[in-house]
Amino acid sequence: MLGICYGMQAMTQALGGKVSGGGVREYGLAEIEVTKEGALLPQSRQKVWMSHGDRVEQMPEGFSSLASSDNGLLAGMSRPEKGWYALQFHPEVNHTERGREILRNFVYTICGCKPEWTPKNIIDKSIETIRAKVGDRKVISAVSGGVDSSVATALVRKAVGNQLSTIFIDTGLLREGEVTQVQSAFKDALGMELTTIDASQRYFTGLNGVSEPEQKRKVIGELFIRLFEEQAARVGNPPFLVQGTIYPDVVESSGTAFGKAERIKSHHNVGGLPKDMKFSLVEPLRELFKDEVRLIGEALGLPADLVWRQPFPGPGLAVRCLGTITPERVSRLRKADAIFTGELQRAGLLGRPTRDDARQLSQAFAVLLPVQSVGVMGDQRTYQEAIALRAVTTEDFMTANWAVLPADLLARVSSRIVNEVAGVNRIVYDITSKPPATIEWE
Ligand code: XMP
Repeated sequence: MLGICYGMQAMTQALGGKVSGGGVREYGLAEIEVTKEGALLPQSRQKVWMSHGDRVEQMPEGFSSLASSDNGLLAGMSRPEKGWYALQFHPEVNHTERGREILRNFVYTICGCKPEWTPKNIIDKSIETIRAKVGDRKVISAVSGGVDSSVATALVRKAVGNQLSTIFIDTGLLREGEVTQVQSAFKDALGMELTTIDASQRYFTGLNGVSEPEQKRKVIGELFIRLFEEQAARVGNPPFLVQGTIYPDVVESSGTAFGKAERIKSHHNVGGLPKDMKFSLVEPLRELFKDEVRLIGEALGLPADLVWRQPFPGPGLAVRCLGTITPERVSRLRKADAIFTGELQRAGLLGRPTRDDARQLSQAFAVLLPVQSVGVMGDQRTYQEAIALRAVTTEDFMTANWAVLPADLLARVSSRIVNEVAGVNRIVYDITSKPPATIEWE
């Protein structure tokens, strides 16, 4: 057992020691001195990240001190014969200099775990589980082009081959080149033809005259349901549905029906299927984190530009095309977005991150504003629409910072969009963080 921060205090309280409040508080960087040799802490002075107001005043019986801070507070304690360890600081945050090493010591040396997580192991195990569950019955999946649904589909395809039918709906609201990119990714990696449904006309008709953001989402969600029903019926209504649920989704929805088949209510991956459609779920990524899912995707042969792509909202470009949605406006937005993201990729700011590269953006895109402004091009007065550029860095997408981009890059993007995209004469850069704004504009 390793208690961290409040965990150390909770252990102390539970095991008969004493925690007290008041006095010295430690927030932020602190230096500690390791006072006792042992398996957990590297033998040196080190910088650690603290965040506590209370402190352990008296250790529980049988514990001895591992380290103390320069403020004279207990920074770690252990009772090795019981396997009990505790740290007052946070080894899990980047600011703690040797945090990874400390966690590694705990997991490998103290707990005796072996680093057996390899993509190949996970893939082999998943394939076995999927086969056992599905047997010789049929499975259906819908890919959106996103990482999770793509990797889940690829895994199930490996496991059950042609028993899987995969639908890819071209809503007309995807990014530049996305349809062919997704199709060829599956073909090259798995020899698999996606059933691509060109539904763009239906989406544009459904969205005709709709400009309210929630209404857009509703129209798009409902159309997805209709198309999915039609396609499922066409392949004999398979009993199993693949979902790209990953572990953070499970945690957020508090892990209901872990591993069990359930009737689908609403889920962001499939846009909320009707309550009377019954499927058993196949969710091979349910215990994995995003970075693990990406590694599995690469091991399955999916191309890096698909596996490392930035998040893209389910309703697609519709929520970045503010105001009414027409094929012409979406095409304008798509071109501007391709210029912006293309320049960012060329500058190495967007794409597969290199480790600890602080410049890496988490998400970047263009937004078409329903605003016309006056400009001048040559001798001509123009009265055209504006594009907003959005680029953020974030750990978890719950909060985000707007990114400071190089001025020369912004200048290049601005002049390229105005020159290459008809109907746009002004570019603005969004300098709002989340909160108070959200990442998307709708
Ligand atoms: P916001 O705009 O709420 O977005 O700050 C946070 C993250 O979620 C993405 N997003 C969506 N993803 N379906 C999705 O699958 C959606 O309807 C949706 N709306 C926003 C957004 O791109 C950002 O990464």
